[in-house]
Amino acid sequence: MFRSILCSLILVAVTACGSKRDPQIELIQDMMDQPSYKTQDFDESGKGGRSMRLPPDGSVPIGHKPYTIKDSQTAESVLKNPVQVSAESLIRGQKMYYTYCFVCHGSTGRGDGPVAEKTMAKPPSLVNARIKGWKDGGIYHLITSGRGLMGSFASQIPDEKDRWALVNFVRRLQENAE
Ligand code: HEC
Repeated sequence: MFRSILCSLILVAVTACGSKRDPQIELIQDMMDQPSYKTQDFDESGKGGRSMRLPPDGSVPIGHKPYTIKDSQTAESVLKNPVQVSAESLIRGQKMYYTYCFVCHGSTGRGDGPVAEKTMAKPPSLVNARIKGWKDGGIYHLITSGRGLMGSFASQIPDEKDRWALVNFVRRLQENAE
C-alpha cells in the first residue's frame, strides 16, 4: 500500500509539474524536445502564423495520379474501362455502390434511395436510356468529378479500379432494370 502511494507520488512529481516554458523532468530524453514544429503550432514566419505549410504547387502524393479530364465528352472518348466484369469486380462495385451511391440513387438505381425524399432536388435515375447510352468513361467521369448537386467521389473512392468496378455495377443495375 505504502509503496504504491509512494510510486504514484513519484509519478506525479515526474510527469505532472511544469509548464511548457518550464519543461518536465524527462527521465528518458530520447528526442522529446525538438526544434521541429508540431502540426498546430504557432510559427511567426508561417502564413497567418501557421506552422503547417501548403505543398509546393504541382506536387502530388506518392501513388496519386492527378485526374486532368475536364468534360465527359473527352472522358468518353479517351478513357477505357480497364476492369473486366467478373464476379469479384462486381462484388467490389456493389460494395462501393452500397457505401457511396445507394443512399441517393437507390438499390435499383432509380433515384429512390432512403435520403432521396429528403433532398430538394431528386437524384436522377441511373438506369434510364440516356445513361445507358453513355460510354463507361462518362459514368467514370461523373463519379470522379461530380456535377452540380452531386459532389466528386474521387477522395472517397481513391482507387481508380474501384471506380471502374462501380461503373460495371451500375451497368449491371441497368441490365436488371430492363
Ligand atoms: C447525396 C446524394 C447523391 C449521392 C450519394 C450520389 N449521387 Fe449521383 N447524383 C445526385 C444528384 C442530385 C445528381 C444530379 C446532379 C446535377 O446535375 O445537379 C446526380 C447525378 C448522377 C449521375 C448523372 C445522372 C444524369 O441524369 O445525368 C450519375 C451517373 C450519378 N449521379 C452516379 C452516382 C454514383 C455512381 C454515385 C456513387 C459514387 C452517386 N451518384 C452518388 C445525387 C447523389
